[in-house]
Amino acid sequence: MSNRLKVTPNDLSAFWMPFTSNRQFKQAPRMMVSAKDMHYTTSDGRKILDGTAGLWCVNAGHCRPKITEAIQQQAAELDYAPAFQMGHPIVFELANRLVDIAPKGMDHVFFTNSGSESVETALKMAIGYHRARGDGARTRLIGRERGYHGVNFGGISVGGISTNRKMFGTLLGGVDHMPHTHLPEKNAFTKGVPEHGAELANELERIVALHDASTIAAVIVEPVAGSTGVILPPKGYLQKLREICTKHGILLIFDEVITGFGRLGTPFGADYFGVTPDIMTTAKGVSNGVIPMGAVFVKKEIHDAFMTGPEHMIEFFHGYTYSGNPVACAAALGTLDTYKEEGLLTRGEELAPYWEDALHSLKGEPHVIDIRNIGLIGAIELAPIPGQPTKRAFSAFLKAFERGALIRTTGDIIALSPPLIITKGQINELVDHVREVLRMID
Ligand SMILES: Cc1ncc(COP(=O)(O)O)c(C=O)c1O
Repeated sequence: MSNRLKVTPNDLSAFWMPFTSNRQFKQAPRMMVSAKDMHYTTSDGRKILDGTAGLWCVNAGHCRPKITEAIQQQAAELDYAPAFQMGHPIVFELANRLVDIAPKGMDHVFFTNSGSESVETALKMAIGYHRARGDGARTRLIGRERGYHGVNFGGISVGGISTNRKMFGTLLGGVDHMPHTHLPEKNAFTKGVPEHGAELANELERIVALHDASTIAAVIVEPVAGSTGVILPPKGYLQKLREICTKHGILLIFDEVITGFGRLGTPFGADYFGVTPDIMTTAKGVSNGVIPMGAVFVKKEIHDAFMTGPEHMIEFFHGYTYSGNPVACAAALGTLDTYKEEGLLTRGEELAPYWEDALHSLKGEPHVIDIRNIGLIGAIELAPIPGQPTKRAFSAFLKAFERGALIRTTGDIIALSPPLIITKGQINELVDHVREVLRMID
């Protein structure tokens, strides 16, 4: 046997899986081998209804022909071009197409390869912007408890999920957090955006009073917090944050990595809430999850503030080898074409009332202590097993997979975010799977 063959091809031990209970998985692997539209197929030939659009990213459904063909053609024509000091036509075309669908005023796009990289890019842009304008003391960043902004150091520093932070030292300095907006005692089982809690935005005024506005670069929030288990902004909350940021010259960053590209029934969360941030981070749905890509949108003033100094000089010392990779751009263009042809960026609006009713029909099922919904996002919160947090929801996840549905859990919350092509019949099917599972688990 050759020295190079240390393991058999399907030995599971070499791959250290991300955000996975590796030991549990490797005892009973859950393998997907193909996918089409709303379904995965497993290695044992079972069809699984995708209740989570992969990881909130496959908004147009799986293996869509326009996207596949675009990737194939591009890979054969121009596989890669250097991202620094060189260009290729479709990255410019893609930026223009994205600006066309972005909230008004978001005129420039910077490409990354993931949501985490989009967040780091946005934080650096915010600090760099103030410095470029001669306001270099504005370096503080304000996030929110329970926020998720990816896994890099900036993102976990402004993020507020303790399991993602506690292992990794002291993180970035100069960061503070607003309280989260989850108020189950007042808002449990609200359909859509909750009534109570807009006043929590005033906590930002308290933080500003503590640090002084002149030291704060930006506030970053998810318009709807997803990965923490779906927390919605109370009515008027985001408007208030916008007002406070504007009043104090603080940039507002919306992390739209999951709310972008139709998830709420509008192209972006900013459109849904009628609040325009200064910087908007996206990823996932920009390329339907098929090829890694992220895009950071910025207002003209922010972009233009960097465009000073000698013209031969680089204006923003930041970028990735794969920023605007041609094949990723082709995937994104194929994705935008598919969204447009099928009206997917607004389809969630039509389906949202049906989705809402279906989800809330789970009220009264075993273990359910709250149900939350917006657009095509849903969360069913379960009472934890005393002393064993997360175990009940994880059992639900395993049982759902056995029955033929992919759901996602964080903590004891089941989060649902199906591809935007889901039919009403498939909504019923997904919710029925959850109902049956809740009746089966301890
Ligand atoms: C709001 C938000 N920001 C950032 C990220 C990180 O994205 P990625 O996993 O592509 O780095 C996610 C991922 O779920 C997210 O939901």
